[in-house]
Amino acid sequence: MCGIVGYVGDKTAVDILLEGLTSLEYRGYDSSGVALNIDGKVELFKAQGKLQNLRNIVQNNYTQISKSTIGIGHIRWATHGVPSIANAHPHTCNCGKVAIVHNGIIENFKELKVKLEAQGCTFRSQTDTETVAHLVASKFAQTHDLTEAVRLATLEIEGAYALAVIHQDVKNTIVATRRNAPLVIGFGEGENFVASDIPALIQYTKKAMYLDDNQIVTLTPNSAKVIDIEKNEIPLKVETLPWEPVALSKMGYKHFMLKEIHEQPDIVRNVLSGKLRTMDEPISLDEVTLDKAKLKDLNRIQIVACGTSLHAAMVGKYIIEDFCGIPVEVEASSEYIYRKTITDENTLVIGVSQSGETADTITAIRLAKKKGSHILIVTNRPDSTMAREADSLVPVNAGIEVSVAATKSYMAQLISFYLLAIYMAEVKGSISKEELMDLKHELIVLPQKIDKILTHKEDIQKIARKFSSFKDFIFVARGINFPTALEGALKLKEISYINATGYSAGELKHGPIAMLDDSMPVLAILMKGKVYEKILSNAEEAKARNARMIALTDSDDQKLDELFENIIRIPEISEILSPALAIVPLQLLAYYIAEFLGKDVDQPRNLAKSVTVE
Ligand code: M6R
Repeated sequence: MCGIVGYVGDKTAVDILLEGLTSLEYRGYDSSGVALNIDGKVELFKAQGKLQNLRNIVQNNYTQISKSTIGIGHIRWATHGVPSIANAHPHTCNCGKVAIVHNGIIENFKELKVKLEAQGCTFRSQTDTETVAHLVASKFAQTHDLTEAVRLATLEIEGAYALAVIHQDVKNTIVATRRNAPLVIGFGEGENFVASDIPALIQYTKKAMYLDDNQIVTLTPNSAKVIDIEKNEIPLKVETLPWEPVALSKMGYKHFMLKEIHEQPDIVRNVLSGKLRTMDEPISLDEVTLDKAKLKDLNRIQIVACGTSLHAAMVGKYIIEDFCGIPVEVEASSEYIYRKTITDENTLVIGVSQSGETADTITAIRLAKKKGSHILIVTNRPDSTMAREADSLVPVNAGIEVSVAATKSYMAQLISFYLLAIYMAEVKGSISKEELMDLKHELIVLPQKIDKILTHKEDIQKIARKFSSFKDFIFVARGINFPTALEGALKLKEISYINATGYSAGELKHGPIAMLDDSMPVLAILMKGKVYEKILSNAEEAKARNARMIALTDSDDQKLDELFENIIRIPEISEILSPALAIVPLQLLAYYIAEFLGKDVDQPRNLAKSVTVE
């Protein structure tokens, strides 16, 4: 959940480290720090809170700091120890010659700490990471070789880590390694980089290599050598990254979240492109390798995911069951992994993840893989751990998503599920030709309908302003839009901190209705179809308890005007595709409420974009 970056070359290291950390801020933002070799001495600069605080410290000492051309940096999302300067990385050993940055969790840090204290190490932080600094220092004292010291240290540590290490006595060298945490090396001319993720490197180089688990890289300005844990040299596999630095700009929008909401019509077109070619051709998913005969015989699918991806998975369940008649179970990855999960080679297991690095989902798919299931991953990061471990892949092509609150990646996941469900239905022959035509046509015109909502966003902004002072919010829906209610509530709570909850409308009267009075806004998602009348009755029940009623609908039904204080009208759409349209006003509503309340929209408190710890 933290971000690490390292630079060795001939430029001012601190500038590159701070730029890199800025683009990794989505991974954490409760404290940060850099370690630089200045005039032959390792010096640390750390700050609590936002990265700007570190920038200010660097600015005040810039003349001295800017001399250094080697360094490592870190942005933290606290796991062990509160956000504080003492707990901020980099961490050092007793003599201060080793500096280390770490993303992940050292599970056996307590045992290691006892041993290291017995050897005379003094601990200055509450972190698990500090043990690694002392351990590397003690191994270096025996070997006088930094790569070997890091290798020996990793033989003793358990858990997940991406590490970058410098040593005062080993000039112009960074040693980095990983196990169950992402790490990428960037290759430049007379300079090399290492980072948790590509955005930290992309403005300097497009030549990169993803390090695999237990590999160790030794970087100097003009060399990069990779070995495995047994000391075998690994040939460099240099890839050219398909990323553009412009993806990381706000392009004139106030926040990344607003920009990413507006990108959604194009994202839908992107996801469809090359997969839905013509109305008559079957959907083409080149990276789905599941044998067609096996697909026809599948009798069960399990989908695992977390947060917003879990909501996309819930919509996925609904459409796969509808189109293909295969039973689908959806479960939060964190629950799936800690029970007697019944999975076998006749079960398709789908993992859904924007980042492809969510620890719980990685553990869940590994567990299912061990039991023989075919693993299909729906992810926005074809370069991620999950994608690399997948048997089949559906890349969602949403481009880099910077805002912590997922919006465009959710849209891309939904569209991917429609494509996957249609693909499977075409293989199985479980859906009529007319129905297929209608669905494909609706998918093609979906971007125009999203555009229409975005053009009228001021209407939603007004409603947001009116309801921004409420402390609680309820979202209700039924059927395929129940996940939309959950996702609408999640968006609102994560960026505005309002206590928002999504309920199945039919469940209201089994408990939640007790909370209703004129201090409770209830937003009902009323898309035309099977459950429209049912939700209307549930909304009547809520109105009878004086709740402040808001409708989100594609209906022009006049009855709604009496029942609802505010109505958000969106273009008409078939019920089965409606989640992809209904979510857009809810994203905007959450955005405008948070923005009106002056919240930190792109970096909400306590959250990180990539949750790489279980
Ligand atoms: O990268 P993933 O899709 O696996 O992440 C899962 C959740 O952490 C993520 O969706 C989270 O809930 C978002 N902040 C929601 O906006």
